[in-house]
Amino acid sequence: MLDSASEVARAPTDEMIAGIGIDLVKIKRIQEAVQKWDKRFLNRVFTPPEQQYCYGHLDPALHFSGRFAVKEAVFKALGTGWRSGVRWTEIEVTNNPQGKPMVTVTGRVKQLMADLKVAEIHVSISHDTDYAIGQVILVKGKS
Ligand SMILES: CC(C)(COP(=O)(O)OP(=O)(O)OC[C@H]1O[C@@H](n2cnc3c(N)ncnc32)[C@H](O)[C@@H]1OP(=O)(O)O)[C@@H](O)C(=O)NCCC(=O)NCCS
Repeated sequence: MLDSASEVARAPTDEMIAGIGIDLVKIKRIQEAVQKWDKRFLNRVFTPPEQQYCYGHLDPALHFSGRFAVKEAVFKALGTGWRSGVRWTEIEVTNNPQGKPMVTVTGRVKQLMADLKVAEIHVSISHDTDYAIGQVILVKGKS
């Protein structure tokens, strides 16, 4: 049975969250795609600033994998999958001076976000030797 306090605490949250998404990426899979397709793969999936960030690190595949996971997590949060005319590069991950990742959207992805009245995109990334994970929370603006 729900007490009234938990109902009160839950109600605003349900109205604020437009979507959540999470994705786990095998780093080896991204390494192989880069080796096989090189620029063709990189340019289709990652923006120039993303490529610059990843190549600025000792092990670029870790950072490419984290960004790839975030892009898939955004598609999940939108509930569209990556059909419906969206491009990978319409989702860009940048990092602030403290290293905190942020997501910027353009094109069709931006339109889909507007349809859901998304005002903020929260993102988190983690990577280890074999896997990278990206998590996204879409927060609605006040209507
Ligand atoms: C953030 C922190 C906890 C990351 O933990 P970690 O176990 O070393 O690394 P993880 O693999 O779990 O996570 C790495 C990701 O954390 C994210 N991250 C880094 N700094 C972050 C921060 N300040 N806030 C939130 N997320 C951060 C990044 O997305 C990074 O991946 P990316 O470089 O590919 O974008 C750790 O680096 C930390 O304590 N940083 C404090 C801030 C700091 O010292 N910054 C130094 C630069 S000024």
